Amino acid sequence: MCGIVGYIGHKPALPILIEGLKKLEYRGYDSAGVAVIQSGTARVEKSQGRLANLEGKVNGDFSDGVIGIGHTRWATHGRPSDTNSHPHSDCTGKFVVIHNGIIENYVQLKEVLQQHGHVFKSQTDTEVIPHLVESYYKGDLVDAVRHVAKMLRGAYALAVMCQDEPDKIVAVKEASPLVIGLGEGENFLASDIPAILKHTRRVIALEEGQMAVLTRDSVTLTTVDGEPLTPKIIDVNWDPGQAERGGYAHFMLKEIHEQPQAIRDTLIGRISDDNTQVILPEMGLPAEKARTLRKLAIVACGTASHAGFVGRYLIEKLAGIPVEWDIASEYRYRDPMVDSDTLFVAISQSGETADTLAAMREAKRKGAKVLAITNVVGSSIAREADWVLYTWAGPEIAVASTKAYTTQLITVTLLALWLGQQNGRLAATDAKEIITSLRDLYTQAAYVLEHMEEPIKEVAAQIARKEDVFFIGRNLDYAVALEGQLKLKEISYIHAEAYAAGELKHGTLALITRGVPVIALNTQPELAEKTISNIQEVRARDAYVIGIAVEGDDHTKHHCDEVFYLPRCHKLLAPVLAVLPLQMLAYYAATARGADVDKPRNLAKSVTVE
Ligand code: M6R
Repeated sequence: MCGIVGYIGHKPALPILIEGLKKLEYRGYDSAGVAVIQSGTARVEKSQGRLANLEGKVNGDFSDGVIGIGHTRWATHGRPSDTNSHPHSDCTGKFVVIHNGIIENYVQLKEVLQQHGHVFKSQTDTEVIPHLVESYYKGDLVDAVRHVAKMLRGAYALAVMCQDEPDKIVAVKEASPLVIGLGEGENFLASDIPAILKHTRRVIALEEGQMAVLTRDSVTLTTVDGEPLTPKIIDVNWDPGQAERGGYAHFMLKEIHEQPQAIRDTLIGRISDDNTQVILPEMGLPAEKARTLRKLAIVACGTASHAGFVGRYLIEKLAGIPVEWDIASEYRYRDPMVDSDTLFVAISQSGETADTLAAMREAKRKGAKVLAITNVVGSSIAREADWVLYTWAGPEIAVASTKAYTTQLITVTLLALWLGQQNGRLAATDAKEIITSLRDLYTQAAYVLEHMEEPIKEVAAQIARKEDVFFIGRNLDYAVALEGQLKLKEISYIHAEAYAAGELKHGTLALITRGVPVIALNTQPELAEKTISNIQEVRARDAYVIGIAVEGDDHTKHHCDEVFYLPRCHKLLAPVLAVLPLQMLAYYAATARGADVDKPRNLAKSVTVE
């Protein structure tokens, strides 16, 4: 999983490539490299480590070239090193290639190439590509790449340049994301839109098996077999400023604070003015289908799966339809029972997560229809689904997902309400009560962020000194606990676990000793007393208890060392507010420990390998 970028035009390519790579570092950051064709020579520079290392290495040699490609790496084949960094070259150095994905048959290809005398420098799967292009090149780069693409198995978004044809970049996509940006007298390519957003908002999201040839003045789209295609140009409405840090210390903090707006954007046009109806015409899912649905299967990874977990509760409660919930990486291997009466719901911020995509394909193979909930227009999951509901969170750059999660919660709530309204299981009074509360949610989220940030910082300073933290809650609070623990561990490296509050006594209570922090979520009125009993169990073992409750609850505070009160909202919407202090807790605990919040170790934003 890596980030790729390319430029061809009239400006010096290097600064554009470096700037694009900065936006793509979330996809991988163990090494980076660039290649620029200048004075008829493909010049390559690459460096292990962060992009800053590469910036320190590139020099005046690169300053005039107006065509180039760049790569930021997250190692799969071959450890992070200068040699294993991209771009990779052939034996002559004429051809340079960047690649995001995995070439599954590289071992066989490499053996044959070596038998024909090709000498490999790296341990990567990618290096077979420039050597293959070298082998098949007969004076036409497009022909050679087309030939080679047909030999590759696996996932790839790749870009190829040849120093003898300095007027073009050839790009191919198969199962890894690739967008083309259209400019005036210049064109761009990248793994993701933010990398080129400063230069253009007109993009083409390549689809599987498509090939693009970029020159200064044109982009030609074909299949790998050479069939001409008419590109679908998307006008992206993201503000370039959204993809910058905007004065915040980290993207994560900025994205935490963007949540009120993201919640608002995700609701716009989807609830009626009188708060009685959810309107989702853009989704396209026929009402008749909603009425006859026998089952839903919600499948996702990481944070998106936690949003799906909330979705399960809500859909069962509001629409009365049974819901299965699975982690995508496990889904295919349990021979899931899905058929044409099942609606498979794939949730994914990026729309590119390989595990989610694979699970979705398996469900489709078995006859299920697919609804995607995603944040990225034109992403693979959006394209392959039958219907799509977008979360309008805007670009999420930090590895730790925040605004994508809250907008996923909003979207699954809308879906649950819509299904319940279509199949008649949801009473009009209940619908109105929830929708009315939904409308207030973004102002309440803003209130929570404004009033809790400072007190949470103080608690985070305590948490930062601990090695283990437990999160407990029941029902929807358990779902939020799952997200709270993931946030804390992925960025602060503090060990954290979430438990259904009633489950703790079945083993894990043995780990609760003096001073161990327990974050207790208690937002669901009908379960409040039971959760308080569980809080008592950990307090009796001298745990340090931090409660999250809702205004009007006078009990929880008597059983906690600290308590944070959320504004009153409908109980089914409490997860949206309850996660906010947990995100801030994770953020401030991580910064107190000096962790690199936006780029946590071993992780990458978009996980496009299984
Ligand atoms: O792009 P996706 O929503 O499919 O990504 C799924 C997970 O990889 C992602 O949510 C991950 O768990 C986040 N880093 C958590 O903050």
